Amino acid sequence: MTNVPETIRKRVDSLRATLEDHNYYYYVQDDPRIPDAEYDRLFRELQKLEAEHPELATEDSPTRRVGSSAETSFEEVTHRLPMLSLDNAFSEDELRDFDHRVRDRLGEDGAIEYVCEPKLDGLAVSLHYENGTLTRAATRGDGYTGEDITANIRTIPSVPLKLRGSGYPDLVEVRGEVYMPRAGFEKLNERLAEQGEKTFVNPRNAAAGSLRQKKSTVTARRPLELCAYSMAVTDESVLPETHWDSLQLVRDWGFRINPEMRKAEGVEACLDAYNELMAKRDSLPYEIDGIVFKVNRLDLQQELGFVSRAPRWAIAHKFPAQEELTIIEDVEFQVGRTGAVTPVARLKPVFVGGVTVSNATLHNMDEIRRLDVHIGDTVFIRRAGDVIPQVVKVVPEKRPAMAPMVEMPEHCPVCGSDIVQIEGEAVARCSGGLYCPAQRKEAIRHYASRKAMDIEGLGDRLIEMLVDEGMVSTVADLYRLTKFQIASLERMGDKSAANLVAAIDRSREPVLWRFLYALGIREVGEATAKGLAAHFGTLEAISEADEESLQTVPDVGPIVAGHIRSFFDQPHNQETLAALKEAGVTWQEEQVLSVDEQPLSGQTWVLTGTLSGMTRDEAKEKLEQLGAKVAGSVSRKTACVVAGEAAGSKLTKAEQLGVPVLDEAGLADLLREHGVEV
Ligand code: IVH
Repeated sequence: MTNVPETIRKRVDSLRATLEDHNYYYYVQDDPRIPDAEYDRLFRELQKLEAEHPELATEDSPTRRVGSSAETSFEEVTHRLPMLSLDNAFSEDELRDFDHRVRDRLGEDGAIEYVCEPKLDGLAVSLHYENGTLTRAATRGDGYTGEDITANIRTIPSVPLKLRGSGYPDLVEVRGEVYMPRAGFEKLNERLAEQGEKTFVNPRNAAAGSLRQKKSTVTARRPLELCAYSMAVTDESVLPETHWDSLQLVRDWGFRINPEMRKAEGVEACLDAYNELMAKRDSLPYEIDGIVFKVNRLDLQQELGFVSRAPRWAIAHKFPAQEELTIIEDVEFQVGRTGAVTPVARLKPVFVGGVTVSNATLHNMDEIRRLDVHIGDTVFIRRAGDVIPQVVKVVPEKRPAMAPMVEMPEHCPVCGSDIVQIEGEAVARCSGGLYCPAQRKEAIRHYASRKAMDIEGLGDRLIEMLVDEGMVSTVADLYRLTKFQIASLERMGDKSAANLVAAIDRSREPVLWRFLYALGIREVGEATAKGLAAHFGTLEAISEADEESLQTVPDVGPIVAGHIRSFFDQPHNQETLAALKEAGVTWQEEQVLSVDEQPLSGQTWVLTGTLSGMTRDEAKEKLEQLGAKVAGSVSRKTACVVAGEAAGSKLTKAEQLGVPVLDEAGLADLLREHGVEV
């Protein structure tokens, strides 16, 4: 002990105090005073000193907040004062009755002052502080005995390991709720799902599961918080006159207390508080299941006392439940605008989270398998905040005999095309992209977009009208539109109708890659379309290629090859392609150059500054025709930089690195030399 130099001992003490201060500012006050990086440096310095001088280690050092991988046994502990529960009021009348009972017992005609506190949906814990140091934390258990969870509680950053200030008595017990804020809950569930582990049904279960971990290192990684709502002391001389003031003391000792807490004079003010908190419920960062009203004066609390296991001086007024049971009557499949096929549960209507719910998304087949949903199952439906209703759990005991499993249909319920699910993807899709009525508007929007067929003037609103009026059902119908038809639409004049017909007409002879991209095959973006066009040369060759030969094209892996194949395999898509041909759409086939025939293959070029004879996109396209890749930044590996007017930092960088530079005239010469039109 004595061989540790005094300076080190002092440094360790001061680091601990500083780190706990910053912890307090960050997690209790939500008001960080130093950058995270600085906190980390101090933390590491303390860790290092503790490792070098193990005799300085203490249980309540901030370094212990990361937990330990030793297994805790959750010893049984007896509560010094029983941890009671609360009676519930489910209606205004029941709350008024409560207030009556309070006033009758106290013989009080006037209004009683209550403290109104949100009822956090978590777990009650009891924390003992001896001489200001946290010595024991326990669960509520049956109210008389609970479990020792000190190691896990120490990892919660908003729990003070030492009380702040100096005016606290030798022995203090603080009680409060451990809970998991919504955002942390969502993230935790995402993480668990990614790791293929079981997810939690709601934040309360997640908080309970996290506190029950045998290894406190696991608890340390769970986003738990503590909010204090009561205290008890052995030395009653420090007690103020009211519950409100006692919570102010608790706050001064370093605890988080609920900022929504307020006082209310009489039962009508309590009802106002209830309604106001209910209106706020969905926007709070944590879940609450009601409001607790407590008689504020501690002497009156004493006088009222307890009945069986609940105090006569407090009551919980519950909010409508956010979880209910109902039955899955059927599962239907919906097709979205991009072809994703989503299972939707049709439910026996149930009132949950303030609305009647009769549908809930089941996301995809993986989710159905994970939950093990059968038709006829009784399930937990959860609707919290403005989140869409979710099926969170099946009650297996209530499954009727012979309840059918849910199967993905083979054909699209809207257009009858095959539904395909590419291996490795969670989402199943209708493969009738060009034909399926559910995907019509999206298919046309994509076909007309700038990088695809570039049909100027064919915007979302117009597509909406054309489809809704029945004038267009596939992209081939665009080419049959007349000026007269278009002009009949709302807010379309003769002139814009004529312009649109001309723009559609101009799109009749696209280059192959643009046409291919315009078909909207899943995962076939601009670059993939260019690669496919350069490799195969004709649409026919692409549509006949098997998955293996498709994969010889750069960036085409098994998933993309699968999407391409299933697109061309659909008779309906073939019909639309034939209709496009018939409408006079002819794509220019590409001259196929093998990779080693392409003069710039393997080279990366960079374009910078303004070109006068062509746009940058055009220059990019032409360079790509010669096999070059066009990148956005200059490096040593850049083959050449094309510098237009007012070129800036990229040109400077090229010069510094000795990368060759061409001006616009030089680029034009090079392109012409290789037979590319300028
Ligand atoms: S006071 C004797 N205040 O609700 C009074 N409880 O149904 C005991 N709870 O076990 C509790 N927020 O887990 C109190 N502001 C609050 C609360 C609260 C949540 C929980 C607590 C308790 C349960 C009682």
